[in-house]
Amino acid sequence: MTEAPKKLYIKTYGCQMNVYDSERMAEAMGGQGYEQVSSPEGADMILLNTCHIREKAAEKVYSELGRYKPLKAANPNLMIGVAGCVAQAEGEEILRRQPLVDLVVGPQSYHRLPALEARARGGEKALDTDFPEEMKFEHLPTRPKPRRGPTAFLTVQEGCDKFCAFCVVPYTRGAEVSRPVSRILKEAEGLVEQGVREITLLGQNVNAYHGDAGGETWGLAQLIRRLAAVDGLDRIRFTTSHPRDMDDDLIAAHGDCEKLMPYLHLPVQSGSDRILKRMNRGHTAEEYIRLVERIRAARPDILMSGDFIVGFPEETEEDFRATMALVEEVRYGQCFSFKYSARPGTPAAERPMVDPAEADDRLQRLQALLTRQQKAAQDAMVGRTVGVLVEKPGRLPGQVVGKSDHLHAVHMTAALAPGDLVRVRITESAPNSLAGALV
Ligand code: SAH
Ligand code: SF4
Ligand code: F3S
Repeated sequence: MTEAPKKLYIKTYGCQMNVYDSERMAEAMGGQGYEQVSSPEGADMILLNTCHIREKAAEKVYSELGRYKPLKAANPNLMIGVAGCVAQAEGEEILRRQPLVDLVVGPQSYHRLPALEARARGGEKALDTDFPEEMKFEHLPTRPKPRRGPTAFLTVQEGCDKFCAFCVVPYTRGAEVSRPVSRILKEAEGLVEQGVREITLLGQNVNAYHGDAGGETWGLAQLIRRLAAVDGLDRIRFTTSHPRDMDDDLIAAHGDCEKLMPYLHLPVQSGSDRILKRMNRGHTAEEYIRLVERIRAARPDILMSGDFIVGFPEETEEDFRATMALVEEVRYGQCFSFKYSARPGTPAAERPMVDPAEADDRLQRLQALLTRQQKAAQDAMVGRTVGVLVEKPGRLPGQVVGKSDHLHAVHMTAALAPGDLVRVRITESAPNSLAGALV
C-alpha cells in the first residue's frame, strides 16, 4: 500500500524571486512525499515564504502566523515553517516571538529544507540561516511537472552587492552569485518541454549576471542570446536591473534580439542627485536619463518601468520636484512607488525621517502622475499590431487573455488556447487592460 501524500501549503510574499523559490521548495518537498495544496486547512505543513523589504511586509507574517493557532490546536502534527527574507533577517527572534513556528529557513538554504523538516518532525526547533558555499539551486532536487503554463520564472542570479542605504536585500540574500550557463540552459530546455514559451530571467540585480560558461564568464546579454537559440522558447524577459549594470551589449540586445521583449524595469528611486547620492545608488539623474535614451535608440518602442521611493530621509520638496521632473522626462509605461520605510540595520534607518503626512502627500502626487503616464502608454497601443501570448480563458465565454510584447493584459474573443502566440490588432484600451482582434 502506498502512503497518501502529505499536504504542503505555501504562502508567498514579496518579489518574483520568492515565487520562483516557492516553486522549487514545493518540488524539493515533493521528494519527501508532499503534494502542494491551495489552502492551509488540513495541511500537514505550512510554509510562509516571506518578504522584509518594508515594515508592513514583515508585520504581515506575524499576523498570518497567529491565524494558524486553531489549525495547530486541531492537528499537533502540523509543521509550520518560515522561509524567505524575514527568516533571514529575524532568525531565532521568530521562534521566540511565535512559538507555533517549528522551523526557520533562510533564502540560501532551501536545499536543506527536507533535512530541516525531518529535524522539526523529531521535535526540534530547526533553524538554518547560513549563506552556504554551495548554491541552493544546483542542489535542490526537481520533480518535473508533466505540463505547465506558458510563462515561467527562472532565477539566474541572486544577492546584491550594491548596498543602497535603504535596502535590506544585501543582508537577507547575501552577496551576488550567478548560476552557471549550462544549468540555466538545461532548466530552460526542461521548461520548454513542459510547455513554457516565455521565460523571465530573475535576479535581485539580474543584469549584474556573470555566469560561468565553461571557462569563460558570460554577461546577461550573452546568456540571453544563447537562450534565444532554444527552439520553442519564443519570449525572453528579465528583471530587476540596476542602471549601473546596463552595459552596451545588453542595450544592443534590445535592438537585435527578437525574442527579447520590449519592456524594461529599470528602477531609479529618485530624480534628485542629492538623494541619489545619499541612497548610494552610484549614478546621477542625468546619467539615468541618458541611459534611457540609449536604450530607446536601440529599441524605440520599449516600455520603461521603474521603482520610486518618496520620503527618503531628508528629502525636501525640491528633491521631490526633481523626481517629478525625471518622471515627466522618461515617460514610464508602468511604475511602482513606495513610501520610504526605515529598515533595521540599514544606514538610512539612522537618519531623520520626513514628516509622514508630507511623505504621504508626495506619494499621492507621484502616483497620480505615474497613473496618467501608464494610461497614456496603454492608450497609445490602440491601432497597433503586437504579439500576444495567450495565458488563460477570459471571464466571458469564448474570450481569452494574454500578455502583449509590452506586458499589457490583452483580451480577445477567439478560439485560442494557453500557449498560443498570435498577432493582435489592439482595438480598445480599458482601465487595466487592452482589447484586440486577431490579424
Ligand atoms: N534590486 C532592485 C530592487 C529590489 S527591492 C533594484 O535595485 O532596483 C524593490 C523595490 O522596493 C526597490 O526598487 C525600492 O523602490 C523598494 N524599496 C526597497 N527598500 C525600501 C524601503 N526601505 N522603503 C521603501 N521602499 C523600498
Ligand atoms: Fe536593494 Fe539597491 Fe541591491 Fe536593489 S540594488 S536590491 S535596491 S541594495
Ligand atoms: Fe522581499 Fe526579499 Fe524579495 S525582502 S522583495 S522577498 S528579495
